[in-house]
Amino acid sequence: MKKIDTSRRLKAFPPYLFAEIDRQKSILRKKKIDFIDISIGDPDIPAPKAVIEALAKAAKVKVNQKYALDQGKSALRAAIKNWSKKRFSVNLNQDTEILPLIGSKEGLIHFPLAFVNQGEYVITPSPGYPGYKSAARFINAKIYDLALLEENAFLPQLSKIPLSVRNKAKLMYLNYPHNPTTALAPKKFLEELVSFCSKYGIILAYDNAYSEVYFNQKPLSILQIKGAKEIALEFHSLSKTFCMTGFRIGWAAGNANFIKALLKVKANIDSGIFGAVQEAAITALKTQEKYVSNLRKILKDRRDYFVKNLKAAGFKGIHSDSTFYVWTRIPKEFKTSIDFSTYLLTKKSIVATPGVGFGKHGEGFIRFALTVDKSSLKKVFQKLK
Ligand SMILES: Cc1ncc(COP(=O)(O)O)c(C=O)c1O
Repeated sequence: MKKIDTSRRLKAFPPYLFAEIDRQKSILRKKKIDFIDISIGDPDIPAPKAVIEALAKAAKVKVNQKYALDQGKSALRAAIKNWSKKRFSVNLNQDTEILPLIGSKEGLIHFPLAFVNQGEYVITPSPGYPGYKSAARFINAKIYDLALLEENAFLPQLSKIPLSVRNKAKLMYLNYPHNPTTALAPKKFLEELVSFCSKYGIILAYDNAYSEVYFNQKPLSILQIKGAKEIALEFHSLSKTFCMTGFRIGWAAGNANFIKALLKVKANIDSGIFGAVQEAAITALKTQEKYVSNLRKILKDRRDYFVKNLKAAGFKGIHSDSTFYVWTRIPKEFKTSIDFSTYLLTKKSIVATPGVGFGKHGEGFIRFALTVDKSSLKKVFQKLK
């Protein structure tokens, strides 16, 4: 039979970072090696009980077993509107400015299909969530790596983006609280960002998946910034806020034309979000404020413990301002982040994520995810001795 090849587009994709880590984990499993997995942002803590009950109850209702309306239930959009008002004092029109998603990744990755033409630039943070680059690759867009450097508190220097890129850029992804560096964006920077994007007509896809995973400083919504609704779409996720990663639900909010265009893309791709999952999300948004503040307490305790012990173990350049990650420089004796993560995996049975996996500016760092309990975190330091 004639050989059937994958597309040139797909061939150009590097292995998806977490798929590669998964492959390494399955090798450890096959060898029956007990390992500690602090590589991926998938919390160990169960989703709220009331949310699971709402899901189970709603699964029995016939209407939820049918194709869901592509714009999401009106009650869900109302819950998102009220949550956004309460949390950020942002006013949204639930019919035109909110779109529920099958997880924020789904929306983030489909969004450029609505606006970016082949050969135009998509600006992506480096280091940053790998999905943004995948989105650009799917549509043969050009990628401009926006460096987020430690000396700039992991905020980009917009003035360094060449004019040729600014003029041909259609979309910029940014994400604060930032995965993987844990950095937060101050209001002044967000104002600068909105005015930059407005000036050059660059759509801002602002990924706020970690808006509720903070310790001291409360993260902002881009929609709190004057003029943002003209140029931005903000993406939210229930995955991290309510430990609902497997449920697959999030939303986009902001500019009505962007929402309309994303809905048109989605209407041609998916057939809505399982109605029972939408009901679960309504329960989460309406009733689980206490769960989220308790989650923050648990994560803060883990973070304080982990950072204290990293310092004691001699690590330098430790960052842990928000999210449930710790981003730190690799020890001097290792040349690259892959060398260090391979050492951790093969010699210490610890799975962590090499910084370079998030983009070339992540080289020299490693990311630990505090998504295991404290006793497992204790074992990390016993193993590191
Ligand atoms: C920065 C960032 N954005 C988006 C996502 C996707 O989240 P979900 O699709 O589960 O909503 C993740 C997941 O790890 C993330 O780290």
